[in-house]
Order: sequence, then C-alpha cells, then structure tokens
Amino acid sequence: LSRRRFLGATLAAGALTALAACSSGAPPVVRRPAQRPLAIPPLAPVRDGVVELTAAPGESAFLDGPTTPTWGYGGMPFGGPTIRARRGEEVVVRVTNRLPETTTTHWHGMTLPARMDGGPHQPIAPGETWEARWRVDQPAATLWYHPHPHGATERHVHRGLAGLLLVDDDVPVDLPDRYGLDDVPVILTDRSFGPDGSFDTAHRNAVGLLGDTVLVNGTVAPYLDVRTTRVRLRVLNASPARSYRLAVDAPMTLVGTDGGLLPSPHVVPDVALTPGERAEIVVDVAPGRRVMVRSVPDDLGAVNGIATAAGGADTLDLLELRPADRLEASSPVPAVLSREVPLSSGVSPRVRRFELSNNRINGRAMDMSRVDEVLEPGATEIWELVNRHTLPHNIHVHDARLQVIAPGERAWKDTVPVPPGQTVRVLVRVGPYADPEVPYMIHCHMLRHEDDGMMLQFLVVGAGQRPAAMVGHAHG
Ligand code: C2O
Ligand code: CU
Repeated sequence: LSRRRFLGATLAAGALTALAACSSGAPPVVRRPAQRPLAIPPLAPVRDGVVELTAAPGESAFLDGPTTPTWGYGGMPFGGPTIRARRGEEVVVRVTNRLPETTTTHWHGMTLPARMDGGPHQPIAPGETWEARWRVDQPAATLWYHPHPHGATERHVHRGLAGLLLVDDDVPVDLPDRYGLDDVPVILTDRSFGPDGSFDTAHRNAVGLLGDTVLVNGTVAPYLDVRTTRVRLRVLNASPARSYRLAVDAPMTLVGTDGGLLPSPHVVPDVALTPGERAEIVVDVAPGRRVMVRSVPDDLGAVNGIATAAGGADTLDLLELRPADRLEASSPVPAVLSREVPLSSGVSPRVRRFELSNNRINGRAMDMSRVDEVLEPGATEIWELVNRHTLPHNIHVHDARLQVIAPGERAWKDTVPVPPGQTVRVLVRVGPYADPEVPYMIHCHMLRHEDDGMMLQFLVVGAGQRPAAMVGHAHG
C-alpha cells in the first residue's frame, strides 16, 4: 500500500512528466489467472550438422477467440525453436525466408565474423536462403536470434520472430540442465490484441510498442509444473520496448547474465531486464507451494528509470510455478560457477564516448553507408555511455563481450541499460574477426529507437587492412 501511495505521489509530482505525458500510449495491463501450461520451444533439429530455419507466416491461438496472424521460425507460427551449439563446434544455419518481405536473422550475443552476423547488411529476400556458418568460441550462455532489417526490426520481432540460441561448453557446473524440465526458457514479450484477434500496434509511446498482455514463450497466463526443488529459468526480454523487474516470493539466485555465468551465485531480491537482456536465475521451491514470478516496480515506481508509460510501474504476473507435492532434490547451487578471466583494460585503453539522445547516438542517425567507428580485433576498450535524455535507452554491441565497470563482481553483458540522466562505463572486448568491408552494429535495443535511427556501425579492421567503407568524421 505504501509503495502504491508513493508511486502515485511520484507521478502526481510530475517527476516523470515527460513520460506521463505520453502515458496514454500505455494500455492498462489485463490480469488473468494462470491457466495455461507454459509452452516450451522445441529444440531445433540438426541434420548433417545443419540447422534449417524457415521464417514464415502462420496463425496463433493465444486467447480463446479469433486467431492472430503471426510470423515464426522453424514451423512455429510464433517464436522459434531453441538452437543449441557447443563451444568449439562449427554451426551452420540455413535461413529460408518465406515471408512476404526481406528480413535478416541476427545471432544476438554471438562473437562471429561480420558477414555471418545477420544484421542489416545480410538481407534475405523473399524465397531466398542465407547460410550462416561460424565456429562457436565463447563460454556457455543464453543468447537469442531475431530479425534485424534496418527500419523494420520492431515490426518483424513484434510479428513473432525470436528464438533462443544456447551455447554449451565443456566446463562442468552443477546447475539444473534438463531442458524444459528444470532448465526452462522464459521468453517475455507483450502484445495487445484487436477485436479480430490481430496484434494491436496502436499503443505506442516514446519508448515503443507496449502490450496489455504478457506472453511467455507465446503462452498467455502460463503456469509451469515443477518436479524438482530448484528450477533454472533462462529469462529473455524479447519485448520491443517493455522492461521487467523479476521478483518471486521464494529464494531467487542470479547465476548468469547476457554473456554467460557469473563467477559466483548471488541471492537477489529482483532482477531487472531491459529489451534484449537475459538473466539465468535459480528459484528454490517448496512442495505444493505455488509461487508467482512477477515483474514489480522499484521503490521509485519504475523499472530502468521509467514509469508505467514505458512499461515499468505495473505489477505483472509472468509465470506461476506449481511445484508437485513431492519433489526430486536438486543439487545446491555451486559456490563457483565460472572461472572466466574478467576483462581488464590494460594501462592506457582507448576510451570512446557515446552520447545517447532522441534517436541519435553522438548526434548521428544510422546511415548504412557510413562507418562510425573503427576497432581493432581483440582490443579491450572503455566506453562511456552517456544518457542525458529524459528517456531510458540501452546499448547493445554486436560481436563484443561487455562488462559494466562497477564495484563488485562483473557480469558478462552484451546489452547494457542506461537510465535517463546516467552515465554507464563499460569494458568492451572486441571480437577476433577482422573484415575491412562489413560493419557490425551498436544500437539501442528498444526497437522503435533502433528503427528510428539510434544505431551506429563499426568495422573491425586488422593491422595492414584499410577500411573499405566510408568512415564518418570525428564526433562533435
Ligand atoms: Cu538483438 Cu542488433 O540486436
Ligand atoms: Cu533507446
């Protein structure tokens, strides 16, 4: 109750005026009791070392009513199968486009050659097949894949195109690992529905498209039957704009972030996820005691520095965990999860500054023919992400592994929230692949911002190579 009053007071005081002004774009969330078993995306079949992935239109039955025209991968009308790849293995994915328009398929969080990245420079025309092939060389992590056609990413993702891409490695760690049983994908998105069942795209504000209904793996109001004392949830925020702050009335341990496992587990009260971010959590359950995984606002009535208008302040029911009356005992979460050496910057690292403003980075809008930054393969740099804007943003860097410079342990990231008025400093480890012609992307992962131009391009250029594309002038 006090939180509610506080929240009301905060909004009334106009502390978030800019956002309150566009809150008409945020539909009130529809509440429904948990009633459907959580769908688990199937694992993508691998035949002769190849994953065939077709993007195609379909029809989805989310609610008891008219069906929804959607897009999906791998025969799923919405979403996509989970691709699993091992460190050291060569991955071959052949993406066929059966959509009525050009798309791309980006491997978010993967370190790989720029030509395989699936960003705006690797278009797949309708009827065509694009083959991506690379060797996986990074630690175990929960990554994902989604379309990235310049100017149309929000629309393609909103139609349903998104799936998980799990990297496994050979480092033994005793965490729950039975896919769909005690190691469970939780892909969060939000949608609104029109009277004819189609996705409603009218509810849009300065942050992007917001839905009044949360879908988890495409399931509305889901529950998960749990048979073990601990369940590992691999949570992906695949929403176009909405941020979540996960909380559950049971012990919750954070074990991994975007780019892999933490050095050691952390018992946490909540975990915030902006669009594109992932978290691996382990929840301890008690026999027969149902608990709801919720998204809750923080003490300021917000998530990521934003209130209801931007999908923050509502309390949302996400997933009900329904433990059986008798549970199989899981191992305790190990005290050491990863021995990956944290990034360190060396003595005089290159420092770059990125100023985030309205649909611009360093005052620039995305230009497919301009290269904004040139990096060295394997370099470790310090980037300052400066948000003086009234809106929240986050920054995703392709190909790179990031760690936020903050006290305490460093989590592996590829997407970093930068709340309004804040500066976030990150260590950036550039991938090893040089290509003087094909750029990677840096962008806000609030998809409307990305589509509206909040994206820059960088080349990774080796010694003795010359950038082939036009490199923009220095900032300012
Ligand atoms: Cu998840 Cu450049 O995107
Ligand atoms: Cu943004």
